[in-house]
Amino acid sequence: MKNIIVGILTVVTLGLMVFTFMGGNAYHGGHQGKVIEDIGQTTAKQSVAAPEEKDDREKERDAISALKEKAGNAGAFKVSHMYKSKCASCHGVNGSGYQNGKPMMGPKLIGQTAEKLFKDLVDFKDGRKENMVMKGLLISLSEEDLKKLADEIGEFPARAEALKNK
Ligand code: HEC
Repeated sequence: MKNIIVGILTVVTLGLMVFTFMGGNAYHGGHQGKVIEDIGQTTAKQSVAAPEEKDDREKERDAISALKEKAGNAGAFKVSHMYKSKCASCHGVNGSGYQNGKPMMGPKLIGQTAEKLFKDLVDFKDGRKENMVMKGLLISLSEEDLKKLADEIGEFPARAEALKNK
C-alpha cells in the first residue's frame, strides 16, 4: 500500500515538474524571458528612432554653421579694438545701428563724414550735445581717441564697399 502511494506521489510530482517546465513560467524564459524580449524590442525601436534624432542634430549643426557664417561676415568687417569694444555694442560692428536685422540702441553712423562724427563726439564729450550715454562713454577717451574713431567710422562705407567686391 505504501509503495502505491509513493508511486502515485512520484508520478504526480514528475507530472507537475513536466507541467512547470513546459509552461516555463518560473524559469527558462517564462515571464522574465518576455521582459527581456520587450527590452529587446524597445531597444530596436530606439535604434529605428535614432536617424530622426540625427536629423535634428544635423539641423542644429546647420543652424550653428549658418550663425558662424554670419558672425564670420560681421568679423570680416575689420574695425579697431577701440571701436569694437566701446562702440559696436550700440552702433553695430559696421556702424549700421543694426544687428541681425534689429535696430540697436545707437543710431546709424556709417555714411557720416569723419568731420561731422568728430564734431558730434567732441560735442558729446563737452556736454554741448546732450546725451548721458554718449557723454559717459566718451569721458574716458581723449580728443585724439575721438579723432581716430571719427576717422575710422568715416572710412566705414569704403570698407563695406571693399568687402562687397571681395
Ligand atoms: C551704450 C550705447 C552706446 C555706445 C556704447 C556708444 N553709443 Fe554712440 N550713441 C548712442 C545713442 C543712444 C546715441 C544717440 C544720441 C542722440 O541722438 O542724442 C548715440 C549717438 C552717437 C553719435 C551721433 C550720431 C548722430 O547721427 O547723431 C555718434 C557720432 C556716436 N554715437 C559715436 C559713438 C562712438 C564713436 C562710440 C564708441 C566710442 C559710441 N558712439 C558708443 C549710444 C551709444
